[in-house]
Amino acid sequence: MSTRTHSGAQAGTQSNAMAAGQDAIALLTADHREVSDMFDQFEQLGDRATTSKEKLKDKICKALIAHTTIEEEIFYPAVRGQIEEGEDMVDEAVVEHAAAKDLIKQLQEMQPDDELYDAKVKVLSEQIEHHVKEEETEMFPKVKKSGLDLLALGQEMAMRKQELMATL
Ligand SMILES: [Fe+2]
Ligand SMILES: [Fe+2]
Repeated sequence: MSTRTHSGAQAGTQSNAMAAGQDAIALLTADHREVSDMFDQFEQLGDRATTSKEKLKDKICKALIAHTTIEEEIFYPAVRGQIEEGEDMVDEAVVEHAAAKDLIKQLQEMQPDDELYDAKVKVLSEQIEHHVKEEETEMFPKVKKSGLDLLALGQEMAMRKQELMATL
């Protein structure tokens, strides 16, 4: 298990409560659905809903940063050597994260009336959709069969996610 310390007693207590019973795959899959729902909501917003667009864009960016970080720090290193073709699969996933993070960084510095704002949100949503599909149909089924302690991994990721969300 991780030796990371909690950022505070209260955060630790919350994390433990949230982490109870949620395995790594369940946690990551729930994150995927949450982000996909936010992209759907964004799509429904009209051109003039600039305040709502900004709020949603910020939430999407923060959720994606936290999610990709816990995957890269905890999940991917754990599964890399434990599943068939894990090295290639994780390498590809990290490259896809890098492309997404580049778009996220651009979007965080943009306003809704900037040129290409909507296009960048749309392309980010398509990239994430592709990436999520690969994780859920290729990587996760292998991880489930791997014998990894997914509950322990899930707990560690839930705590780290809580920490990240408090600072983002
Ligand atoms: Fe990922
Ligand atoms: Fe993911």
